[in-house]
Amino acid sequence: MAFDDSLVKDVLKHADIVKVVSAYLPVIRKGKDYLAKCPFHDDTNPSMHISPELQIFKCFVCGTSGNAIGFVIKYEHLSFKEAVKKVAEICDYHDPRLDDIHQTKVVDPKRGPLVKCLHDLTVYYQYALNSPEGKAGLDYFNSRHLDADLRSKFLLGYAFKDGKATIRFLEEKGHSLKTIEDAGLASPTTGTYTDRNAGRVIFPIIDANGDVVGFSARRLGDGQEAKYVNSPATYLFNKSTLLYNFNNAKEKARIAGYIYVLEGFMDVYALYRIGIESCVATMGTALTEEHIRLLRMLNVEIRLCLDGDLPGQKATMKVANELANAGLNVRIVDNQNSTKDPDEILNQDGPIALNAYLNKLISRVDFILNYYKNTNPLQTSEQKTQLIQEFVPVLLGIRSQLELDSYLNKLADITGYTPEAIRNILKTARSKPKERDFKEIIRQNNPERKVLRRLEFAERELLYQMLQNPEAVAFYEQKIGGFYDETYRIIANYLVEYANEHKDFVPVDLITSLETSELAEKDILINKISELYLERNHPDVCNQELLDNLQQVIDSEKERIFENDTLEQSLEGKDPKEKARILSDFNRRRLRKKR
Ligand code: GTP
Ligand code: MN
Repeated sequence: MAFDDSLVKDVLKHADIVKVVSAYLPVIRKGKDYLAKCPFHDDTNPSMHISPELQIFKCFVCGTSGNAIGFVIKYEHLSFKEAVKKVAEICDYHDPRLDDIHQTKVVDPKRGPLVKCLHDLTVYYQYALNSPEGKAGLDYFNSRHLDADLRSKFLLGYAFKDGKATIRFLEEKGHSLKTIEDAGLASPTTGTYTDRNAGRVIFPIIDANGDVVGFSARRLGDGQEAKYVNSPATYLFNKSTLLYNFNNAKEKARIAGYIYVLEGFMDVYALYRIGIESCVATMGTALTEEHIRLLRMLNVEIRLCLDGDLPGQKATMKVANELANAGLNVRIVDNQNSTKDPDEILNQDGPIALNAYLNKLISRVDFILNYYKNTNPLQTSEQKTQLIQEFVPVLLGIRSQLELDSYLNKLADITGYTPEAIRNILKTARSKPKERDFKEIIRQNNPERKVLRRLEFAERELLYQMLQNPEAVAFYEQKIGGFYDETYRIIANYLVEYANEHKDFVPVDLITSLETSELAEKDILINKISELYLERNHPDVCNQELLDNLQQVIDSEKERIFENDTLEQSLEGKDPKEKARILSDFNRRRLRKKR
C-alpha cells in the first residue's frame, strides 16, 4: 500500500534511534555508538550497535539491522505504518497525518467469539461484586486489603451462587453453549451447564494482548473446597505460557530495569500496594520455557521470589539455573528461613519490611552455596567433587579477585576441601579452552576484523564509497560492469536506481526505502548496508585515485576468476598429458601478463 514518503522522512528527521531503542532496552554508550543486548537472539554480551550518527542499529552476532522504524517493526511485530507512528510517539513528534494510523490487531477468527464471551462475563462478575449478594466478596477483598483501585485495575469480581443464571446471562448476550464451553466456563458433564466459579471471588487472567483469557476463582475464606479453581486449558488459556500481570509489567520492567517473578497473584497485589508494578506471577506452575521466552524479551534483570521452604528453594535452584542458561540476568530474593509470602509479610510486618525483603537480593552463586550449606545434601566425597565440578564454570567467569576468594572460602566451608585445592582445580580447568571460549572467539571475530579476499575487499570498499558519494555511484555505473559478489551487485543496482531519483540522499534514506520496498532480499541488503556503515576502517576521502585503484583490483581479480573458470572447463575430460600441457601454457601466459 502506498504510504506518504514525506511523512516517513519527517518522522525520521525528528527521530533518534538511541531514544527509540532505549524505550525498549537498556543501552550503554561506547565511543561514538551505543550498545545493547540484542533482543533478537539469545545475547549474553551486548552485541547490538546503535549508531546515532547514521541512525541505524545492527547486531554483530545475529545480523539483525535497520533504522528506527525497522527496530520497532521487528521488536513489536508491528506493520510499517504502525511502527512509523510508534517512532513518532517515542520521539515526541506530532503530525496530524499520523492520527489516521491505528493499530490493527491480527484477527484470529477462532479467538474473537471466545474473547468476547470472556469479556462479557468479566463485566458481569464485576457487576455481581457490587450487588447485594456480592457484599460477601467485597468484604473478602477488603479483608485482604484489595481496595477499589486494585479491584478495578485487575478487573476483580464475584460469581453469583446461581451458576445456571450466569450461563443464561451469557446465552442471552448471544454466546452459544459451544462458545461458553470452549471458553472453559462450563461443561455439560454434570448434565446442565452451570458456572464452575459460582460463589467465589474472581481474578480474571489477562494475556499479553490485554484480553481476559480465563479466570482464577478463590473460595471466600477458609473451607474444605479447593482454595482456587482455575479455568481449564482452552484455546486461549494455557498456564504454561501465561504470566499473571505480564501485560502491565512489560512496560514497567523496561523502565525499572528488573522484574520480580512471584508465585501467586496475591503477591502481585502486595507489590502493587508498595508501589512496585514490575512484577509477574506464575499460575501455580513451575516456570516453563515459554515463560522464560517471555521474560527474555524484556531484557531486564529477573528477580526470583519463590517460596522459602525446602521445595521452594529446590524450585528456585532449578529455575535460576534455567534462566541463567537462557542467558538471562538473575538475582534471587534471599528468602531462606522465611515461610511467609510477600502478601503475608506486607500484612503482618508492614510495607517497610516487604521493601527490605524484596531488596535483599543475592546472586545465583550465593543462593546455590547457601542452599548446599543449609540443606547439606553433600554426604559422600563424590557429591562434593561433583559440586565443585559444577561450580568450576561459574567460578571461571568471576573477574573480581575478592569475589572469587569469598566464593572459594564458602565452597571450602561446604565441601571440606581447602580453598587452595579448589584454586588448583580452577587453574587446570583454565588451561583447557572450553567450547564456551571458542564461542567467545567466534563472537570477537566480527566482520569488522574479518580478513577479506582482495576482490571482496575492493568491491566492499567501492560499495561503501557509493553509499556516501554520488560520484562513486556514477563511477560504478560507467566503469564497473557489475560486482562479482551477488549481494553487493543487488545493492549497487538498487543504489544506481535510487540515486537517479533522489539526488541528495543520506544513508538512512536508502535503508528506509529498502524497508518499504517489496524486495524479497531486503533484510539481507539492509543488513549488509548497516554492516558497511558501521565499519570504521574505510578511507575518509573518496577521490579519483582511490576509485581507479579499486577498479583496477576489481577488473584484474574478475579476469583471474574468469581465466580460472575457463581453464577448468578446458581441462575437463582431457587425459593427464594434455592437462599438463594446458596448465603450463596457462601459467606461462599469466606470468607474461604480470611483467
Ligand atoms: P492466598 O492463600 O489466597 O494468599 O493465595 P497464595 O497466593 O498465597 O497462594 P499459594 O501460595 O497457596 O499458591 C500460589 C498459586 O498457586 C496461586 O496463586 C494459585 O495460582 C495456585 N494455587 C494455590 N492453591 C490452588 C488450588 O487449590 N488449586 C489450584 N488450581 N491452584 C492453586
Ligand atoms: Mn498468600
